[in-house]
Amino acid sequence: MKQIAIMGYGVVGSGVAEVFAKNHESIVKKAGEELEIKYILERRDCTGDPNEAKIVRDFEQIVNDPAVSVVVEVMGGLHPAYDFVKACLEQGKSVVTSNKELVAQAGAELLELARAKNVNFFFEASVGGGIPIIRPLHSCLAANEITEIAGILNGTTNFILTKMAHEGAGFDETLRLAQQLGYAERDPTADIEGLDACRKICILASLAFGRHVYPDQVAVQGITGISREDVSLAAFAGYAVKLIGRVKKLESGRVMIAVSPALIEHESQLASINDVFNGILVRGDATGDVVFYGKGAGKLPTASAVVADVIDAVKAAGTVGSLYWTDQGREGYVEDPAKDETAFFLRLGGVSQEKALALFPGSRVLSASPEETALLTPVLEKGRVEELLQGIPTLSNICVLDY
Ligand code: HSE
Repeated sequence: MKQIAIMGYGVVGSGVAEVFAKNHESIVKKAGEELEIKYILERRDCTGDPNEAKIVRDFEQIVNDPAVSVVVEVMGGLHPAYDFVKACLEQGKSVVTSNKELVAQAGAELLELARAKNVNFFFEASVGGGIPIIRPLHSCLAANEITEIAGILNGTTNFILTKMAHEGAGFDETLRLAQQLGYAERDPTADIEGLDACRKICILASLAFGRHVYPDQVAVQGITGISREDVSLAAFAGYAVKLIGRVKKLESGRVMIAVSPALIEHESQLASINDVFNGILVRGDATGDVVFYGKGAGKLPTASAVVADVIDAVKAAGTVGSLYWTDQGREGYVEDPAKDETAFFLRLGGVSQEKALALFPGSRVLSASPEETALLTPVLEKGRVEELLQGIPTLSNICVLDY
């Protein structure tokens, strides 16, 4: 019999308890032994909850109980989650987390600590919600040199952009709906400003290339600047607007990593990923492109990934998995984002078609009026585009990606 503790009883934590109860028999069969949730750490009053008897308020009760061998951290945020997870690993307990902020910020350190203590630190649910991506990237694609990863990594923003494109819905009302559905972060700024997607691409980049990338090393732009005009002009030109996290290994050994809205051609597999769904394209030298698709947020999809990790942690008791990367410092690894080369979708206010084409020769003009000219440029360096736009009223400046 293995005893488990859950830290955090919000959307994901209650989903974990629900999946455990609902699928108990098959979970036990897969784990190879009986499993029991012994404690649930939660400060809120849970009177009347079916798991009321398991609720504890004091973390020390969990960390000091030698019977607890696997701890699930689904509290979110960096503190106290980091301190609790570290203490559990130090006590020789395996930890399963859905906390992207924690893994993106401290993954290398916690993986090293887990290894030293001969336990596991698993985080499948931290990227892509219910989509299996961490393990496939690490194990199934292991024979490949991964060259590039690009994905729709945030369910909330994809839900908003989809509703804007398909239903002409407003930003605020759609965000409220995403919050009600349990997709958004407690502070939804992390979703709409791109930080959540940034944490996820950092985790994928660290895993794929073996070296930790910190969120503050990444150029991040969210979706608050995207207007309905952008979405409809892009659609008219044959593109969807998506928030994309991407990383590419360069010949120099550095990585180009970014999160930003992007125009994606309608024919691309990423363009048809809508609503709360996430899609992650992994480009390998042997496989070519592999795309992972599924529900990227929400209670039960995320809980399903957490519970699968618990099963694996139980099965792997006493052995350390090879899921690992290291912190090799920040210097000389992340390429200057100004050197990023893509095409661009520009809307320039009060600029004639002639002037726009003189600035960006070879562009495709999408619309032109005395008020604004919209165009798609050829592939250019981001820094060069910003130089050319100095002093020009720029209504939109969105990269165009060809995944
Ligand atoms: N807020 C996140 C999203 C939850 O919308 O994708 C899943 O990580």
